[in-house]
Amino acid sequence: MIKRELCFETQADEMTIAEAYDALFAEMESGKAGYYLLPESDMVSRIDAFIDTYDFDARGIRNIVVIGIGGSSLGTRAIDTLLRHTSSRNGRRLVFFENVDPLEISDNLADLRFEESFFIMISKSGSTIETTSHVKFLLAHFEVSIDSERFREHFAFITDADSPLDQFGKDAEVPVFHIPHNVGGRFSVLSAVGLLPLRLLGYDTRALLAGAGALKNSFFERKEDLLVLKAHHYAKHHKEVPINVLFSYGSSFRDFNAWYVQLWGESLGKKRSDGTHVGLTPVGIIGSIDQHSFLQLLIEGPRDKTVTMIKVDDFEKEIEIPDISLPHIEKTDYINGHTFQELLNAQCDATMESIMQQGISVDEIEMGRLDEYNVGYLIMYYELLTSLCGHFLGVNTYDQPGVELGKQILKEKFAR
Ligand code: PA5
Repeated sequence: MIKRELCFETQADEMTIAEAYDALFAEMESGKAGYYLLPESDMVSRIDAFIDTYDFDARGIRNIVVIGIGGSSLGTRAIDTLLRHTSSRNGRRLVFFENVDPLEISDNLADLRFEESFFIMISKSGSTIETTSHVKFLLAHFEVSIDSERFREHFAFITDADSPLDQFGKDAEVPVFHIPHNVGGRFSVLSAVGLLPLRLLGYDTRALLAGAGALKNSFFERKEDLLVLKAHHYAKHHKEVPINVLFSYGSSFRDFNAWYVQLWGESLGKKRSDGTHVGLTPVGIIGSIDQHSFLQLLIEGPRDKTVTMIKVDDFEKEIEIPDISLPHIEKTDYINGHTFQELLNAQCDATMESIMQQGISVDEIEMGRLDEYNVGYLIMYYELLTSLCGHFLGVNTYDQPGVELGKQILKEKFAR
């Protein structure tokens, strides 16, 4: 169960709200954005069949190695971190070859035995420099030839149909799963990109899609005015209030926050066709930790931020703060006998109240439990919100022309 509440005044006339629903419906119908249809895709069944055939247990696969970056890794990381407490991960480890940081690469290699590992190379374009460099390195490190049985049995590719990686996979007879052409990297976590690694780790990917599908259906039944109003509010005030702070109460939201930053940053920071630059700057922080760092800036700093609080009702872990009085620190005894969850959630409520008292726009997403259904719902919530903000800002939410120049300059540097 997820409850959402807007704690700020916002207005949009009926026509504006109806046009927003229509705009996203048109994106779905025209095929401009394909993520809307992922909850109903048959990819889950195809992945289940693949896993049955491959028989990962009999082969002793203990490491699921994701080689990818950006939209090809962040979503899987986010969902795994949110759900890790619910699963033994089938006794497997999840390893990411993501950043081209030599220290991280050498850390990753510790205890990584090839015969116990399944490598999933994920790249929509098929030729991202970080990802291809990692694959080259791993092939050389483990002395794997691309025309060997070892390669075919320990690798799978996830990419666009007809990408260079798709061609490579076909030639090498490596299993290949496709990302629909109209599903952008940062919107792809509910495609094979997330579903294959997450299923291998034992997560209930059907429940994940059911949660996402429930919100998507409710949205297209035009029952999600709060979501539309929130996006409208952000876009309307984007010049004076350009920063959106996601204040997530729980350490397991750290990677979700990073996913949100990428989704929001790449989708909404754009140059419009009239040449104006727009965007909503995403900031992800964690409660209660960042009450001791960012909160001061929120409360007394420039009035350029909106805030969304995320709170979990039930962490399914009752840990009590014992009734112990420490000498000279008796003033903290008011919390004795309460649970850590009670403390965390009360801190969330108190912080939210303090932000509201400053007249800052703040809203709250309250999740019942961190399970697959609720996490799927939350993913879809942020994807729809991003599309709605893009609509109201008048930008193309689904492209990212701004990242191309740096790639070009990089190439030139190595050509010199
Ligand atoms: O969202 C996006 O489109 C990007 O962040 C990509 O996911 C990222 O650049 C990786 O690209 P690719 O999946 O093509 O390797």
